Parts: sequence; C-alpha cells; structure tokens
Amino acid sequence: MNISVVGLGYVGAVCSACFANEGHNVIGMDVDKVKVDLINKGKAPIVEKDLDEYISRNVKAGRLRATTDLKEAIDNSEITIIAVGTPSKPNGDIDLKYIKEAAKAIGEKLKEKDEFHIVSMRSTVLPGTGRNVVIPIIEEISGKKAGVDFGYVSNPEFLRESSAIWDFYNPPKTVVGATDERSYKTFRELYSFLNAPYFEVEIEVAEMIKYADNSWHATKVTFANEIGMICKKLGIDSHKVMDVFCADTKLNISTYYLKSGFAFGGSCLPKDVKAITYKAKTLDENTPLLNSLMPSNEYQIKRVYNEFIKPLRSKKIAILGLSFKANTDDLRESPILELTEILIGKGYKVKIYDSNVLKAKKDGANKEFLENELWHINERLVENLEDAIKGNDIIVIGNGSKEFEKIPQKYRDKYIIDLIRVTQQISNENYIGIAW
Ligand SMILES: NC(=O)c1ccc[n+]([C@@H]2O[C@H](COP(=O)([O-])OP(=O)(O)OC[C@H]3O[C@@H](n4cnc5c(N)ncnc54)[C@H](O)[C@@H]3O)[C@@H](O)[C@H]2O)c1
Repeated sequence: MNISVVGLGYVGAVCSACFANEGHNVIGMDVDKVKVDLINKGKAPIVEKDLDEYISRNVKAGRLRATTDLKEAIDNSEITIIAVGTPSKPNGDIDLKYIKEAAKAIGEKLKEKDEFHIVSMRSTVLPGTGRNVVIPIIEEISGKKAGVDFGYVSNPEFLRESSAIWDFYNPPKTVVGATDERSYKTFRELYSFLNAPYFEVEIEVAEMIKYADNSWHATKVTFANEIGMICKKLGIDSHKVMDVFCADTKLNISTYYLKSGFAFGGSCLPKDVKAITYKAKTLDENTPLLNSLMPSNEYQIKRVYNEFIKPLRSKKIAILGLSFKANTDDLRESPILELTEILIGKGYKVKIYDSNVLKAKKDGANKEFLENELWHINERLVENLEDAIKGNDIIVIGNGSKEFEKIPQKYRDKYIIDLIRVTQQISNENYIGIAW
C-alpha cells in the first residue's frame, strides 16, 4: 500500500520505518526539516533501538522517504497516518493544536483529491476527538463526507520507547475503530502480517482503550510503589511480596475484578483496605492511591442515587439483590444495603427481594442480625420477585443472580437501574446501565 505518515517523532518515525519494512511505500511528512533531512539521509531522527538500520535499509530500497510537503505525501498515498504530538495544557487538558493543524492541512489537500483516502489517527486523543473535532474539520475544509468520500480510522499506538520496533511487531493488541467497512477492510489487510489480538470496535471505544490502558499502567506502578513503601517501613522485602502477588493469575493478574459496575463490598475488601491504610498512617507513610479506594467506593453508591435514581419521578422502588454479590446471604458492608438505607432515609417506598437473604431471615446465621440490627431492611423484605416489583416504578438490579436476567426485557414499563449488567441484550428504553 502507499502510506503517508504525518509527524515523524517517536511514533511516526517507527511506524514509517516498520511499514516500509513490510514492503509498503511510505512517505513521512513533518514540519521539522531536520527530521525530514535525517530520514532522507537514511538516519533515525530519534534514538531508538534498531531504528537507524530500519530507516537506512528502507530508504536505500526506495520504500521510505520524507518530505515537508503534505500535498506530495497525500497525493502519493491512500492512507495518511497522523502521529503528531498531543501534549498537556497547563490545566492537564489535552492540547489538540497539532492535531487541528494537521487536520486542516489534510482537509485542504483532500479537497483536491478525487480518490477515496483514509485518515488514521495514531496519536493519543481523548474519546470524541475523532468524531467531534477531526472529522468535522476535514469535512468542512475538503467539502467531503467521512465514511463516504474518505475514511476515518482510530488506531491507537501501544509501543514503548526503547523497544518500539519490537513492540510494532509484537503489539499486545491492535485496535481499529472506523467510519466505514472499506476502512476496516483496508486496515485488516494492512495488519495481516501481525500475529496478535485484533479488535474492530467503534471509534470512541478505540480512543478510550488507550486511556484505560495508560491509566491502568499508572495505577499498577503506583500500587506496587505504595505496597513497597509500607513493606519498607515494616522491614518486609516488597519484591518477595509482589512476586507472589503476581504469581496469582486467578484473582490478581487476571480479568477478575475488572468489569465496570457498582461498588465493592463484603466482609473482606472494605475491612482490609481500611486496616492497611490505617497501618500506613501509623507508619507515617503516605499512600494516596490506597487511601482513595474507600472514598471512591463511597462515591459509587452516592452516584447511583444522585445520578440515576433521584432524577426519576417516582419514590416507589424495588431492590433486587441485597447482598454484595449473588449466591451469598452476607450483608456485611454490602453497598446495595447502603444504597437501600439512603433511599429509606429519603422517604422512598422500598421493597426488597433477595432469595439468599430470605433464607437467612428464616433460619440462617443472619436471622438475628436482620431482626435486631437491620429491622428496617427486614420489614421491607418480600417473599418473591413479583411481590417486590408489583406497584413499583423503579427496579434496581443489585447483583448478578440468574433470576434477574430477564427483568430488563420483561418489565419494559418500569425504570430498570442495572448495577451489574445482568444481560448484554437490552432493548428497553427505560433501562439504565450505570457504566454502559
Ligand atoms: N512516544 C511514545 O512512546 C508514544 C506511545 C504511544 C502513543 N504516543 C502518542 O503518539 C503521539 C505522538 O507522540 P510522539 O512521542 O511521537 O510525539 P513527538 O513529539 O516525538 O513527535 C511529533 C512530531 O509531529 C510533528 N508535527 C507537529 N505538527 C505537525 C504538523 N502539522 N504536520 C506535520 N508534522 C507535525 C513534530 O514536528 C514532531 O516531529 C502522541 O499523541 C503520543 O501521546 C506516543
């Protein structure tokens, strides 16, 4: 394929050299003449392992060259990859100055081009940037329509500096979000040489994945550092701790606990987070990430009330599932219990159904707890699902119990607030998912 790459920094230089190495004809374009000249001389414009060799080999083979002339780059390619910088503004917001400049320039050149052209965003941009900023600029200036006259693709970059070429050939994944099937198909072909997970998603999902990734990576580093700080104060070798921690691929290094949804609860997580952060405090150690867990969890509960329940014009509500997860009657630190208490306190007419808690109400270990400490909950517990729903306008699905799966489809006239995502197939306009 004929590819142009706008911006020849760390990302642009590497992907130019690597796509050329895969046999494509690549024209790199940058406003910085020094970088352009270096590439044309067969030299890397940045320090990166093996890049000099890749650039020199492919320039010599005639598959890679660079220019400061965008028209030349666009006229001689069917795909333009944008890899300009997206630095931070002083307030932390992303600065789209270079992206907008590049989009305007591309729009000008596309105005003069008749053939279908794909514009691909390799730079990291916030969700919505493609559809709300870049596409409108290109459409307005070129007079062309995205998805029809030109394709727009979000294809975030996952390379790490210092192993960027290796990462190009061994990416953790390739993510492609596009405006049209033709662009998806072209990118499938473009990346057909890779043996790595490949995801076709919506443009905004592709954009967001990059931020989820980097936020997660930053969280991992900070978490390991805070555990290390506590260990040091306690005379424990944190590397021994983290080695064992990482060896647990069931609960720790795994997909477990990574579904967006409602607050955590139960008899262990809140108690143990509170204990270790208190311990850190007594050691005069500062652990802002760990300290933020309980407030963030509390916020989840208040948010469900403030954002989803409060705006609805009814105070008649059914809570389905009271324990912190399905198949247990354990009510200790249940966030749904806390949400229910907020609702009762605010005068909601609440009915509660939870088959496991019901069992406990009859003869389980929680019987006394329910009767003495949770009598306000006990008196609102009903015997079956239908009784809980009857006469109520809002249904909150609080845990992933199987018997709740059909609720969103069955009760289309009621507001359904799903804390769990009990089902993937939802076609109920009164359905409200809390994070989807
Ligand atoms: N560096 C990394 O490891 C890495 C990894 C993944 C994603 N990213 C993302 O990729 C993007 C690029 O990062 P980078 O580190 O390569 O940036 P960089 O600053 O090294 O390079 C950007 C290049 O774009 C050029 N440029 C600016 N405006 C231009 C224009 N209008 N036309 C042509 N060229 C222009 C600059 O001269 C510069 O050479 C950023 O969004 C970054 O967040 C970077």
